[in-house]
Amino acid sequence: MEILKTEALTKVYGKGQNKVTALDQAYFSVEQGEFAAIVGTSGSGKSTLLHMLGGLDRPTSGKVFVEGKDIFSLKDEALTIFRRRKIGFVFQSFNLVPTLNVYENIVFPIQLDDNTVDEKFVGEVINALGIENMQERLPNQLSGGQQQRVAIARALAAKPAIILADEPTGNLDSKTSQDVLSLLKVTGQKFSQTIVMITHNEAIAQMADRIIRIEDGHIIKGGRPYTSLDSAESEGILTSDMRGLTK
Ligand SMILES: Nc1ncnc2c1ncn2[C@@H]1O[C@H](COP(=O)(O)OP(=O)(O)O)[C@@H](O)[C@H]1O
Ligand SMILES: [Mg+2]
Repeated sequence: MEILKTEALTKVYGKGQNKVTALDQAYFSVEQGEFAAIVGTSGSGKSTLLHMLGGLDRPTSGKVFVEGKDIFSLKDEALTIFRRRKIGFVFQSFNLVPTLNVYENIVFPIQLDDNTVDEKFVGEVINALGIENMQERLPNQLSGGQQQRVAIARALAAKPAIILADEPTGNLDSKTSQDVLSLLKVTGQKFSQTIVMITHNEAIAQMADRIIRIEDGHIIKGGRPYTSLDSAESEGILTSDMRGLTK
């Protein structure tokens, strides 16, 4: 099942001479349970794409479908509720609440939504991320890497259908990055969560099921899973010569 899909998604910032087309007619889809990595140089439109996939910002034109629903047909308040229930975000800056301790930060979004915390599950996530001994600490008593692990635990804790991560390992050393990514991948598989992650790091991108390349606001590779020979051919993965051999 396609859990996430865009249609001609376009975002233009500014006007006149300051106009920047950050995303230009992007077509993209992700299957449920897939782990997709978005790679591209700085300024290529990665964060813009991720923000719109998660309904954080509205496009200039085009659509985003989550589980078949056109999310921008929703009014702001309904969109906020939808986002809170379906999507877990992880950003490079951790966005932890400074006055809440680690455990309180992790369950905060669940409580905002008036839902019961699945203590067993949250405990598993906390253990898997190796932060069980720091649950009562405040964010400023943690290293950057520890804060990011808390932010990841917070995104996972509400069991969202989709995790959107923008350079989640940007502030972690390479060993911790690999550990955190492995955990994300395993948890994603266990709970059929779909993960879309932006990264600059090719080694990290290689851990994904699929790599989506973006350049100057265009998705140049990997926008669709290769569900048909046609899509593989259109992306240059399969040449028409090779196709002849497969028949
Ligand atoms: N809020 C904004 N206002 C104006 N321009 C923006 C804004 N956000 C992003 N841009 C521009 O859009 C382009 C894509 O940015 P972004 O999506 O952040 O790229 P990436 O995440 O790949 O580095 C860049 O040229 C950037 O300067
Ligand atoms: Mg970015």
